Amino acid sequence: MSNAEQPQDMTRRQFLSTVGKVGGSLAVFSLMGNLGLLSPETMKAQDYTPPGKNDLALSNRNGKKIIILGAGIAGLTAAYELGKAGYQCTVLEAKPFAGGRNWSIRKGTTNQEIGGTRQYSQFGSDLYFNAGPMRIPQFHSTLEYCREFNIPIEPFNNVNDSGYYYNENVGALSGQRITKRAAKADVRGYVSEMLAKAVNQSALDLPITPEEKEKLVEYLRREGDLNADLFYRGSSRGGYKEEPGSRLDAGVVRDPFDLTAILQSGFGNYFSNEYGYDQQMMMFHPVGGMDMIVKGFEKRLGNRVKLNAPVTEIRQSGDGVRVRFTQNKKEQEIIGDYCICTIPLSVLRTIPGDFSPSMKSAIQNARYASAGKIGLQFKRRFWEEDELLFGGNSLTNMDITQIYYPPTDYFGKKGILLGYYATGANADKLGSMSYIERERHALNQGAKIHPQYKTEFENSFSIDWKKIKYQEGAWVSYNAEERAGMYKTLCQPDNRIYLAGDHISHIVAWQAGAIDSARAVVKDIHQRVMKA
Ligand code: FAD
Ligand code: ALA
Repeated sequence: MSNAEQPQDMTRRQFLSTVGKVGGSLAVFSLMGNLGLLSPETMKAQDYTPPGKNDLALSNRNGKKIIILGAGIAGLTAAYELGKAGYQCTVLEAKPFAGGRNWSIRKGTTNQEIGGTRQYSQFGSDLYFNAGPMRIPQFHSTLEYCREFNIPIEPFNNVNDSGYYYNENVGALSGQRITKRAAKADVRGYVSEMLAKAVNQSALDLPITPEEKEKLVEYLRREGDLNADLFYRGSSRGGYKEEPGSRLDAGVVRDPFDLTAILQSGFGNYFSNEYGYDQQMMMFHPVGGMDMIVKGFEKRLGNRVKLNAPVTEIRQSGDGVRVRFTQNKKEQEIIGDYCICTIPLSVLRTIPGDFSPSMKSAIQNARYASAGKIGLQFKRRFWEEDELLFGGNSLTNMDITQIYYPPTDYFGKKGILLGYYATGANADKLGSMSYIERERHALNQGAKIHPQYKTEFENSFSIDWKKIKYQEGAWVSYNAEERAGMYKTLCQPDNRIYLAGDHISHIVAWQAGAIDSARAVVKDIHQRVMKA
C-alpha cells in the first residue's frame, strides 16, 4: 500500500496501530519504512510516539534484545530509535549521569579528573557552562531532536566583529587588543588594494579577458572598500574613533593600521575560523544548556538507561552477546542478540572483548585529540555593560586560545565566560596544571584582553577531556591513511557487535556524527533481523 492509499480518515498512528494488531511489530516497522516514517530526515515531531506499554508489547513479540554500551548522544539515539521500532534495549552507562561529552556544568556538579583532586562547581543556580558541545550548525541532525522533543533553541553567535584579536610577539600590534572589525577592514583593504593594482597594471599574467579584469578589479574595490584610485585609506567598516551621532555629528572613522603592522600581527590567519562549513552562521544551541537534549532522551527512555554501570567485559558468539558490568559494587551480566558499542575507543581499548584481530588493532591504534575548557563566573557582565559585546569570541595566540561570551541571557546580572577553549599542545599544557593553576593562568592571560577580570571574577570550573574518566580524549583523530584503512574496519559490524559514535562518522567532534552513526547502525541491525 502506498502512502497515497492510506485511508484519509485515519491518523498515521491509528493506521500503524491497526497494522500492528494484524501483523505484529515487524509489519509495523516494515510499513513505517515503506512510508518513509523511519527515515530520520523525514521524521517530524508529530510522528513521535512516546515509548509506553504498546512498545513493550511489540518488543516482546519481536523478541530481539539489543545491549547498548554508553549513554552519550550515540547510545541515547540508538536506544530511542530502536524503541520507536519496538526493540527491547538496555543502555549501560559507566557514569552517574547520561550525556557523555554533552555535559553542562551547573551549581553542585562535581568531578575528579584522572590523577587529580575533586572539583566542585559553585556556579550560580541559574547559570551553566557547556564543557563539551556548545554550538549546533543549522543543518545538523542534532536539531531534529530539539524539534522532536520541543526543546527551545536560540542563536549561538559564532561571529561577532565586536570581539577582539590579541597577539603577543607580533611586531607593532603586539599586546594590543584590536577589534575584529578593524583587523578585517585593514587586511581586506590592503590585500585588495595590492591585487587590484597588480591586475590593473597587468603585473599578473592572468588568463582572463580585459572585460574580466575589469570585473575582477571591481570586485576587489568592493571587497576592500577601496577608493576610486584603488588605494585603501581606511573604511567605516573598521569602526570609528568618534562614533557618528545626531544632527551634524558625522563621527570620525578610525585610522587604518599601517600595512606592515597589520601583516605582522597575523590577525588575518584567524579569519578563516569563521569560514568553515560547520562554523558558519546560523548556529544554534538549546536554551538552558546543551544537556537539554540529553534530558529529552532520558525522559523518553526511562529505566532503559542504567547509570553507574561500567562495562567490564564484552563477549559474543554466533548466537548472541554477553556483557559484564558492575552495579552497586556487584558484577552483573546481561545477554542480548546484538550489541551497539558507543564507548570511546580511548576507553574501549582497555576493556576485554571478543573482537576480530583487525577490529582489535583498529581500536588499539585510534588516536584521540586533547581539548580543555574553563568556565569563569563573573559578578557582572562587563563585556556587555562596558564593551557592548554580546556573544561571539575573542582570539589570541596566548595559551587560552579563545574566550567566548555567553550567547544567552543578555542583560542578565552575572555570567559565565568560556575563559579558554584550547586544543592540542595548549590543552595539554593547561590540563597538566591543577584546577587552581588553570584558573590563575586563565585570569592572568584573559585580563590582558579584559582588565575587568581582576575585580569581577567569582569562581571557575575546568575540564581536561584527556583526564575525564570514561572519555580519555576530546575526539578521535584520523589521517587520510587511517580513514582508508582502520576506519573502514571500525565501520563494519564485528559479528554481533556494531560500533557507533562520532568516531564512526565523517562528522567527528560533532553530536551529529554520533546521531547519524547511531541511526545507521539501527537501520543495519533491523535489516539483519528482517532477513534472519
Ligand atoms: P560520548 O559522548 O563520549 O559517549 C560515550 C559514553 O560511553 C559516555 O557517556 C561514557 O561515559 C560511556 N562509557 C565509557 N566507558 C564506559 C564503560 N566502560 N561502560 C559504560 N559506559 C562507558 N559537538 C557539537 O555538536 N557541537 C559542539 O559545539 C561540540 N563541541 C565540542 C567541544 C568539546 C570540547 C568536545 C569534547 C566535544 C564537542 N562536540 C561538539 C562533540 C560532541 O560532544 C560529541 O561528538 C558527541 O557528544 C559524542 O557522542 P558519543 O555518544 O559518540 O560519545
Ligand atoms: N565541533 C567542536 C566545536 O565546534 C570541536 O568546538
